[in-house]
Amino acid sequence: MADNWVQAAKTYIEAKTERNLTAIGTGFPHATKAGKYQLAEPQWWTAGFWPGILWNNFHATKQQKVADLAQKLEKQMDPLLRDPAKLDHDMGFMWTLTSLARYDLTNDSTAKTNALLAATLLLGRFNSAGQYLEAWNSWQGAADTSGIVIIDSMMNVSLLYWASEETGDPRFAVAATQHAETILREFIRDDGSVHHMVNFNSETGEVIEKLGGQGFAEMSSWSRGCAWAIYGLAIAYSYTKKPEFLAAASKVADYFILHTLDVAVPLWDFRIPANTAKTKYDYPDSSAAAIAACGCLLIGRLAAPEEQAFYTKAGTSLLQRLFEHATTAADDQALIGHGTGHWPEQTNLDTGLIYGDYFFTEGIYQLNGIYNTFWLGGQWDHESLQ
Ligand code: GLY
Repeated sequence: MADNWVQAAKTYIEAKTERNLTAIGTGFPHATKAGKYQLAEPQWWTAGFWPGILWNNFHATKQQKVADLAQKLEKQMDPLLRDPAKLDHDMGFMWTLTSLARYDLTNDSTAKTNALLAATLLLGRFNSAGQYLEAWNSWQGAADTSGIVIIDSMMNVSLLYWASEETGDPRFAVAATQHAETILREFIRDDGSVHHMVNFNSETGEVIEKLGGQGFAEMSSWSRGCAWAIYGLAIAYSYTKKPEFLAAASKVADYFILHTLDVAVPLWDFRIPANTAKTKYDYPDSSAAAIAACGCLLIGRLAAPEEQAFYTKAGTSLLQRLFEHATTAADDQALIGHGTGHWPEQTNLDTGLIYGDYFFTEGIYQLNGIYNTFWLGGQWDHESLQ
């Protein structure tokens, strides 16, 4: 029997999602302004999260109108699969939570085809010299981005693992594991914090430089980057059973837990110099907590038996603090506020973010005993998780 707050959080999410079926509808929300989601193009990296919330909801409620809306959203993304110049490594986020989720829950063959096409395009971004997945295309602005890798990519590799599992072709999983090993070597610091971006020489594979990206500075500690690493490395471990992936996921989780012990909502960067102006830098990022919570809950299922309760409790506590301190007013479309999208660009500060809402939904459903296996493929059957 779930605790009272856990049930209340599920009721809260389902009531807002019901309203959002019409308020957001067939749009692709990204961040809120005055409580209303601003919409993005279907090719933006956040396109999968609203349909992903809907697939979580459908899994729990079995309402056909919810699945129908999720499928309408996915249909708007279909043309992109024939226009890869518009896509980047975030195809993982985008099609895991749309086509792959639909295939997982409905077994529809068109959904499987879409997810495999996305996985094939993602595999095409693998650079064998550097053994990494190239993050962006040159349309992102920089002159040559063929050597840029970002920590967020760890969430995208699950689509590759799934594709190998589905087709029996090992190439997707081989690339995913080589990429994860590169992440382990170049991104995860000894203390458990992570680099956001590394720039490689795309012909030789050598590291050119490490960059601050969405964090405060090169050697700072962007909290959402830590969260992507926790969940992504735990997923890589769940597919490969390579102990170094679980060890790294746990190390980053320990660091995250230590830096969020007494706070309602984590800061957007854990390493802002103490003498900087508080009002300028002191922004929260609820999305980091929601993502890290889901990662901790997964580590809680994968870790040695004597360590499981620690991570399950940590993930639960992060979600409880979000429910108590970050949920929004009744007329606000976001499920949780206090997210920070991109501090260096000064965009979407202290607001609702659709990916924060997604991972909050996924985590709260898990605490209610309703697990989806979108990130984990067929290795977990739904029944064994109840
Ligand atoms: N993938 C970009 C971000 O986490 O903001």
